[in-house]
Amino acid sequence: MKVSGTNIAEMLRQASASDFDEDESTRLATIKEAQRLINRLQHPTERCWELAFENWVILGALQTFIDLGIFERWRDAGGGLVSLENLCGLAKADIDPKLLVRLCRLLAAKDLIEEVAEEQYKPTTFSLALGDEDSLQAGWIQFGEIPYRLGCPENIGFWARCSSTPELQASFSAMMENWTRYKTHWTEYFDTSVLLSCDIDTSAPILVDVGGNRGHDISLFRSRHHAVIPAGSLVLQDRPEALALAEVDRDKIRVMPHDFLTPQLVRNARAYMFHAVFHDWTDEMSLVILKHTAAAMKPGYSRLLIVDVVLPPTGASAFQAGMDVTMMGLLSAKERTQRMWEELLSGAGFRILKIWRDPKRYESVIEAELGAPEEGARQI
Ligand SMILES: C[S@@+](CC[C@H](N)C(=O)[O-])C[C@H]1O[C@@H](n2cnc3c(N)ncnc32)[C@H](O)[C@@H]1O
Repeated sequence: MKVSGTNIAEMLRQASASDFDEDESTRLATIKEAQRLINRLQHPTERCWELAFENWVILGALQTFIDLGIFERWRDAGGGLVSLENLCGLAKADIDPKLLVRLCRLLAAKDLIEEVAEEQYKPTTFSLALGDEDSLQAGWIQFGEIPYRLGCPENIGFWARCSSTPELQASFSAMMENWTRYKTHWTEYFDTSVLLSCDIDTSAPILVDVGGNRGHDISLFRSRHHAVIPAGSLVLQDRPEALALAEVDRDKIRVMPHDFLTPQLVRNARAYMFHAVFHDWTDEMSLVILKHTAAAMKPGYSRLLIVDVVLPPTGASAFQAGMDVTMMGLLSAKERTQRMWEELLSGAGFRILKIWRDPKRYESVIEAELGAPEEGARQI
């Protein structure tokens, strides 16, 4: 019998452990089949993400809740609907709501707590169990999280570590390349012809991909518009160690080592693109990068293209929320909501023209130009 996808989803939604009348072997066999179903549905990149990235950030978020006594106090307070503010009030030490909301977003994306509305949460059976001292469940999390606390033995920053360890650089570049291939390509949901539909200044490049790693994104642009792009009008910039692994058509794409924390030397380009760059940096450091970019741009002509996550007000996916907490742990950095992007960009003298949304709901392209935001211009 052919069952529709919607019926399967509905059947799965309704199933619960009590359906098995204590028949343990059938319950365990069903878990196995459900896991196999996930394995069949998942893309290999999604599986790698779960194996390599997700566990440590989820454990870290759960551990923070346990350390702060939030699960325990939430349970003692009746386990009802609470606001973010009340959740902070349950903590036995001061916790910044801006941090707690990021952990809540991740736990909600993994069904460990429920996000009822923006900054409104309910516990789940699982989180109530973690708050129940007698259940001893919290001990699992505490024990499992220990190996992840060891941190970086050399005590240097992530990028310095990549530069000094070729194996780490190679695995990072390969992982980013795979991730970029998996994600909806920016050229699929951003109208790239926008960059060519004006009087092009032929003395300057059309597109500079800043922090472009192996050149995947700029090569997509090249393939789409190769017939009209003169040599030298596409520039790929990154750290030299990353560029050494670049695989691009060097006749058409100029490969140029550049530290984006220093002034941008390529001036007056039609567009400067940053894909998954700002999520690696704090607002303070992002402003440095943005201001160097702004100084190189031609007002009224140059565009800034930021391809990155724009966190939705509710219902962030496990990828989005997990990447946010990963960035916090790895680089003291973050993913941003639309409001956070608006504040960051206006602080560097940019106004957002349009946010182009990825249909897969992972990233967006934020198109901006130099200038103050127009009054009430939250079109986006
Ligand atoms: C998360 S990766 C994104 C790479 C690529 N844009 C993509 O989406 O696949 C961030 C990139 O920033 C580069 N990067 C880090 N620090 C840099 C710096 N100071 N100057 C230039 N590039 C830098 C890294 O080498 C890396 O390729």
